[in-house]
Amino acid sequence: MKSFIQFFSLITLLLLSSSAYANEHTDAHKKAQKATSAIRKCFKNCGMSKDELYKIALFIETELPKQVETNRVYYFSRTKTKLARTIEVDPHTKKIFIHLQRHNVPELGRGARKNVTYSILYSTTKPRKVAHSHTTYPNENEAQAMSDLKGVPGLCKIIAVLSDSRNTLSNCYSFITKYYPRGDFSHYVQKHSNSFKFKDRLRFCRDIIHGIERMHNKGYAHRDLGLRNFFVTRKRKHVHLVVADFGRAVSGGNTSEKGAQGGYSLCAPEGLKPHLLKGDDYLRTDIFALGCVFYKILYNKKPCWMQARKLRNTHVSLHTRHKRFIHRIEQYRKQRLKELKKTGKLKKKRFSPERVEAIILKMINPNPHARPTASVVRSLLQ
Ligand SMILES: Nc1ncnc2c1ncn2[C@@H]1O[C@H](COP(=O)(O)OP(=O)(O)O)[C@@H](O)[C@H]1O
Ligand SMILES: [Mg+2]
Repeated sequence: MKSFIQFFSLITLLLLSSSAYANEHTDAHKKAQKATSAIRKCFKNCGMSKDELYKIALFIETELPKQVETNRVYYFSRTKTKLARTIEVDPHTKKIFIHLQRHNVPELGRGARKNVTYSILYSTTKPRKVAHSHTTYPNENEAQAMSDLKGVPGLCKIIAVLSDSRNTLSNCYSFITKYYPRGDFSHYVQKHSNSFKFKDRLRFCRDIIHGIERMHNKGYAHRDLGLRNFFVTRKRKHVHLVVADFGRAVSGGNTSEKGAQGGYSLCAPEGLKPHLLKGDDYLRTDIFALGCVFYKILYNKKPCWMQARKLRNTHVSLHTRHKRFIHRIEQYRKQRLKELKKTGKLKKKRFSPERVEAIILKMINPNPHARPTASVVRSLLQ
């Protein structure tokens, strides 16, 4: 009798555990199906068949949590899993990303240092298309800047900073940011510049200075303020900009990679002598660069005081180039301010291109210490 009871309870236990397993399995299967259709809805041409995507989702629902929790594995390459795409988990937030790379989908963008491709932020209900920037350059500084600037309004939305978890010695980081379907401002201007009104141009300048003011307040200079590094977004019927690409950002002026900006086209006079730049000098060279950027936005042409070709001409001594550059800016500022005053528009309360230009003239003051700070520019543009 006793052994019969023992046998009976063993069978019950087996049945219960197998039904729990079956339930768990159907649950995972249902979640994977839900995720598959949600992903296919949010990303129509993700370059994968429904079946490939389902297998990835099922792996995420079943195998992945064990690997993350027990073995602390965060990177699942295609060769390891035999799935159609690589999967990566952010160890801090546990967010899961499916990297699409360039398998049957075009690249999202490419800059001087980074390649940008699409990834999917996994969720069974609200998956999102996101941007994945990766590089083969060591980029610890950028990773630090991305972590420090995460969540700062006015800047490109940072979702995750991923270390190369395949190789603990690697100092290459990749980044997941919000995907901006309208792309960067440089491309956007080429298509839409003729349709911008003055109030749009003013809004763009205000958006940029908002982002830069917040960066500067956190002690970071941007140092690469070309139009490609502003991303276009839309809020309540209006087109807006956010500041992006922190690849050259420096905190407290600490950098081994000298230089005021990426090239000569936005370079302040003191940037011709990069070895002398330190600390807050970079905040001031950012302001000069923004003066040039605002002029471009306002008039859709290169700033007339900049002559990148002459600045980089090493046949002329550095001292002479520096002196001539300062002279050129001073002449331009003097003459232009006179002309602007004559129009009488500087005194008017209403914003006009002339009033914005008067602010630009302050920003490009050859004396870096006489330039307004980002907070002052922001309040002048308000
Ligand atoms: N989140 C994004 N959304 C849309 N386009 C992006 C995004 N991230 C990068 N890009 C595109 O990729 C280009 C290069 O990215 P960026 O971060 O500026 O790299 P780099 O440091 O090499 O210049 C950008 O100019 C833009 O066109
Ligand atoms: Mg860039």
